[in-house]
Amino acid sequence: MRGDRQKGSIPMTYILGIETSCDETAASVVLDGKTIVSNIVASQLDLHAKYGGVFPELASRAHVEAIGAVVEQAVRDAGLGFDKLDAIAVTRGPGLVGSLLVGLNYAKGLALATGKPLLGINHLEGHVYSLWLTEPSREIKFPVVVLIVSGGHTELLLMEGHGDYRRLGGTLDDAAGEAFDKVGRLLGLPFPGGPNIERAAQMGNAIAYKFPRAKRDESYDFSFSGLKTAVMREATVTPVGVEAGARRADRTPKLRTDISIHDVAASFQDALVSALVDKTARAAKAYGATEILIAGGVSANQALRQKMRAEAGLPVRCPPLHLCTDNAAMIAAAGFYRFEAGLRNELDLDVKPMWPLTNDAYER
Ligand code: KG4
Ligand code: ZN
Repeated sequence: MRGDRQKGSIPMTYILGIETSCDETAASVVLDGKTIVSNIVASQLDLHAKYGGVFPELASRAHVEAIGAVVEQAVRDAGLGFDKLDAIAVTRGPGLVGSLLVGLNYAKGLALATGKPLLGINHLEGHVYSLWLTEPSREIKFPVVVLIVSGGHTELLLMEGHGDYRRLGGTLDDAAGEAFDKVGRLLGLPFPGGPNIERAAQMGNAIAYKFPRAKRDESYDFSFSGLKTAVMREATVTPVGVEAGARRADRTPKLRTDISIHDVAASFQDALVSALVDKTARAAKAYGATEILIAGGVSANQALRQKMRAEAGLPVRCPPLHLCTDNAAMIAAAGFYRFEAGLRNELDLDVKPMWPLTNDAYER
């Protein structure tokens, strides 16, 4: 019953969000899709750092170990009991299948035990709704153009209403965050590459190297694998004279000693950010957007924020840093609009490891 928490005549809707699509076990309670009441994120970063990327089996196991305590703490921190929740929103995809299953199965068990409705959420839609948690006082007016840039995705969307997405373009190969991570590894920086490249770039010259501005065409698609290859050519040498059949480690390209990692990082970051800004700004003008929203892990990047603000000619909204990377508050916020639209999922709901964000995000 929502009525028992009504303040005056205004209903208060509490959604519990659960997120386990990649390497964060997260749970959060959000009020009315905009106010974070509690937000718990258990990061597995240390677990995966030594592998230079996310190790799927380890991720699922760590989710299993953490999820119970994370969800209970989120509900406890909110000062509520499970009976006071209105619905349970959980990431259904896209993501790692084993990781998604841990969160979805836990959410199903909770829905069954508490009798609360279950809402399966698209993780990308969650990133979009991190923007609704930022400055609730400044209403977002549709249409908006949304750039989602994370470790697994680079998507450019036109959003004309809640749950109303048109995909304008996306990456044809590496995601923006993936390019940051691969170039970071190439330069010998710790995982994840994004924040470490940003830090290295602060002391570098962005015009020291002329890396290609990928896909300068009329489409709204991106391509970053050529940029990554260009960085590799410039910054590394393949050892010569190594016999065929030598151990793989002997044949891998080595970082040149006569280059500045700071300059390479700054020039790479500038090339990648320029491609994102050019196409996002062009799409925003073409579709009459009121503002540009940027979400996902790479939206933490200050060079991206600054260039977009300087060149797009429109207001640019980004999440606070702690909501750029994966969290469950964004899943709860997305769940609120779905709940308000009367959508509910059954307990036989399955994960969707591949799930582009289009209008069928609202499918039952
Ligand atoms: O959204 P997210 O936490 O996970 C996915 O859904 O993929 O994004 C993680 C990605 C990583 O590739 C990481 O390198 C990148 O976001 N990232 C950054 C920055 N902080 C995180 N990339 C560039 N600059 C940053 N400051
Ligand atoms: Zn994400």
